[in-house]
Amino acid sequence: MKYLVTAALPYANNLPHVGNVAGSHLPADIFHRFLKIFGYESYFVGGTDEHGSPIEVAAFKQGITPKELCDKYYVLHKKIYDFLKISYDIFSRTSNQTNHQITKEIFKKLLERGYIIEREIDMSYCENDKRFLPDRWVEGICPYCKYEKARGDQCENCGRLLDPIELIEPKCVICGSKVVFKKTKHLFFNLPKFAKKLEKWLSKKKYWKENVLNYSLGFLKEGLKERAITRDLSWGIKVPLEGYENKVFYVWFDAPIGYISFSKELFEKIGKPELYEYFWIKKKGRIYHFIGKDNIVFHTIWWPAILMGANLALPYNVGGMEYLNFENRKISKSQNWGVFFEVDQDKISVKIKDKSYEIEPDYIRFYLSLILPEKKDSNFVVKEFEEKINSILIGNISNFVYRVLSFINKNFEGEIPSAKLSEEEKKILKEIKKMKKEIKEKVLNLEFKRALEKIIELSTLGNKYFQENEPWKADEEKKKRVLMFSANLVKDLAILLWPFIPNFSEKVFDMLDIEKFFFGSFKRVGKIELKNKKLKYLEIIFKPLKLE
Ligand code: 2FM
Ligand code: ZN
Repeated sequence: MKYLVTAALPYANNLPHVGNVAGSHLPADIFHRFLKIFGYESYFVGGTDEHGSPIEVAAFKQGITPKELCDKYYVLHKKIYDFLKISYDIFSRTSNQTNHQITKEIFKKLLERGYIIEREIDMSYCENDKRFLPDRWVEGICPYCKYEKARGDQCENCGRLLDPIELIEPKCVICGSKVVFKKTKHLFFNLPKFAKKLEKWLSKKKYWKENVLNYSLGFLKEGLKERAITRDLSWGIKVPLEGYENKVFYVWFDAPIGYISFSKELFEKIGKPELYEYFWIKKKGRIYHFIGKDNIVFHTIWWPAILMGANLALPYNVGGMEYLNFENRKISKSQNWGVFFEVDQDKISVKIKDKSYEIEPDYIRFYLSLILPEKKDSNFVVKEFEEKINSILIGNISNFVYRVLSFINKNFEGEIPSAKLSEEEKKILKEIKKMKKEIKEKVLNLEFKRALEKIIELSTLGNKYFQENEPWKADEEKKKRVLMFSANLVKDLAILLWPFIPNFSEKVFDMLDIEKFFFGSFKRVGKIELKNKKLKYLEIIFKPLKLE
């Protein structure tokens, strides 16, 4: 079984913050890395979402072209994910030729099969600006929850998909004047036609996360509507149909197709073009999409319907996250509320509220992993961030590594000793075996927080074992046994933590002088592999985190 893992494609009009990282890039990366240590073939694709009105809005505001804007943001995004060690096999762009081509092909297939309908509709129009307005350029009151700043495409507050015409008191975002509606032709995807099929498909997804499944079924119950897949914009993928020369595809039509295009680009790049067929046409692999809450229905209803219509592989699972807040409030860039990333050439700093810090990417990854909004909204709290890093990552995990290795340095001239295990160690090995099973189960169930908690338990167990056995007081034979066993626990922790804090793990592997090759390494956990082996060097890995 081969796996294809994707993370939500971020719009190329602003930079990601910790909420976006915790919402998709990080969980996707954790999962992909675990699949690798489990020994599965996994490919991880991502890229920027470069079309649609958000891009046009931002470019318009900055007085540059959408293409210029995307070129700039693509690079910034990539640098931030590289800094955070998000291990994309490819990080591409939806404006690439491959995506243009595949989008047109899929459209033609849907058209041939009768899933596309032409309708004359009332489109938002601003008399003052003399132009049709993209859905996002219209703002008004949400008809469902009465939120006052609902956008024409979706209400940020209740998450419902909207049409601008449903908004109460719709206004033009550019100039604030009242929006009127004018007739023009557009193409629609016949989503209602897939309602039965979607229901049947979702009914087999009992293994999905509850939040994702419930949200999707609830959405389905409310009834599906035909949705326009064309827009009156100039930036985007041209619609290959007569009469549509001045329109482009709706961004949510071509964006998820990016998953297909990017994997195609990747498979060609690595000389395995046949994998494109394997995943998408023959439907043989398992496809996992990781996304934030506001993207759930797009990935569990809209996107699967398009795939059904084009007879392509459906997602095996959708890892939908809830929201991550900052200090009990919604993250907001404009209000400087949250944790953001700043790029200065090749240096990335982390901005917390209004102060910039140089912070180890592992610290961010570790804390975010502890508070992933897997089942409900969660909260980034600065004090807690500092506290968890200093007490768990440094005080528990890193301290265990340092204690063990420095003891070996001092007492055994840096060589991991060899000894016979006693009943106590054998019991712990049995415990580890059980833990491994649980960790794997949790990961495959997309419960990464629980998996991490288990691994932290193992580190706690290691510390306890070392402390209680007091090797500094013990006779030579026991000293050897405790240190050999502890060094192997250090190796186990480095393997298990790699999906969460890869820099840490790779450093430990380097100090232990073992090859940094993690593929299939899960089976090495709980094995006494290291004995009569010299350490390469020893360093303190982490410095305490101090924030103002
Ligand atoms: O909400 C967003 O940021 C979208 N750009 C996510 C797109 S995910 C995928 F479908 F492309
Ligand atoms: Zn206007």
